[in-house]
Amino acid sequence: MQKRLFSNLRNLQHDNPLGIPRSGAPPSFRDFIAKRGLPEQRKIRGVSKVIAVSSAKGGVGKSTISANLALSFARQGLRSGILDTDIFGPSIPGLFNLSGEPRRTENEQLIPLSNYGVKSMSMGYLVPEAGSIAWRGLMVTKAIQQLLHEVDWGGLDILVLDLPPGTGDVQLTITQHVKLDGAVVVSTPEDAALRVAVRGITLFNKVDVPVLGMIQNMSGPVHGLTGVSDFCAAHDITLLGDIPLHASILANAGRGKPTVVAEPESERARAFHRITRTLAGMLGLPISGSVVEGASAPTTQRLNEKAGRIEELEREAQELEELLSEKRKEIAQLKEGD
Ligand SMILES: Nc1ncnc2c1ncn2[C@@H]1O[C@H](COP(=O)(O)OP(=O)(O)OP(=O)(O)O)[C@@H](O)[C@H]1O
Ligand SMILES: [Mg+2]
Repeated sequence: MQKRLFSNLRNLQHDNPLGIPRSGAPPSFRDFIAKRGLPEQRKIRGVSKVIAVSSAKGGVGKSTISANLALSFARQGLRSGILDTDIFGPSIPGLFNLSGEPRRTENEQLIPLSNYGVKSMSMGYLVPEAGSIAWRGLMVTKAIQQLLHEVDWGGLDILVLDLPPGTGDVQLTITQHVKLDGAVVVSTPEDAALRVAVRGITLFNKVDVPVLGMIQNMSGPVHGLTGVSDFCAAHDITLLGDIPLHASILANAGRGKPTVVAEPESERARAFHRITRTLAGMLGLPISGSVVEGASAPTTQRLNEKAGRIEELEREAQELEELLSEKRKEIAQLKEGD
């Protein structure tokens, strides 16, 4: 792990903080500077729809919800991915129980790591000690740009962006550099959280990103029951769903197996499926409704078996790709030796 950290740190330059070798197409630092005044808003290659899960307040459950939404999209038949844009506090490796340095394609694009049928990319894979890095300004902007545009997703119907808390530079960089199809704002029901949520909604309104709706998280005796639904009714915002405060959501997240996968039959998993169904409808994505409420036990079991098989095949494919890359290296070394 230490070796990997050093190899990544060696490459930490302003124009290439993730240390992606430069042989091909990606834009240069000079291009970036030249366009500094006018950031270019691009689509993420190979991705049909991109949504951001956001909240100005920290710790309200963005990452937990992003992970479960991405998994729920996948369980409903969509090709789904998740991008952790939290450079300083990445959560996705832990939530998906994934680690290890991503491999790269021949034209130096990062290859996502997969688990439970969802592709993922995170700063946490590239710099495991990401929490301790001290980048600022340009470095952060450039790292975000690389995560947004230098990953080979290989064709996705939906990509969920897990945003860091706040309404600062990172959020702005994302909205400026990528065409978002919508934002989902997460809040807990209490007044303090809702006051902060307004800031997030204002940011998206300013940059013309449609706010698809809000998700109330951690409702119950601690934070109350209806704060977000009252807020949505008063501000003409769609309430996408309500996820209660529940010990097993915390425990599942902690052991790297989010609720949608760990407890597929639970009311909590169904709540996530209802939200993704609504979102898919808003985004015009066709989904198979069978995992959602009312699914028969045999159907659910069949879909779970299918997801398990996909997982197994993904793991095997990853091993084969590693073997292939070792063989290629060996061939290259032998050729160099001539
Ligand atoms: N509905 C819930 N019930 C119980 N625990 C929850 C629930 N939602 C999230 N949590 C827990 O709350 C903690 C914070 O969640 P999470 O990391 O998803 O928040 P976040 O908004 O992404 O935080 P940050 O702002 O630091 O990125 C985690 O320990 C998570 O497991
Ligand atoms: Mg988070």
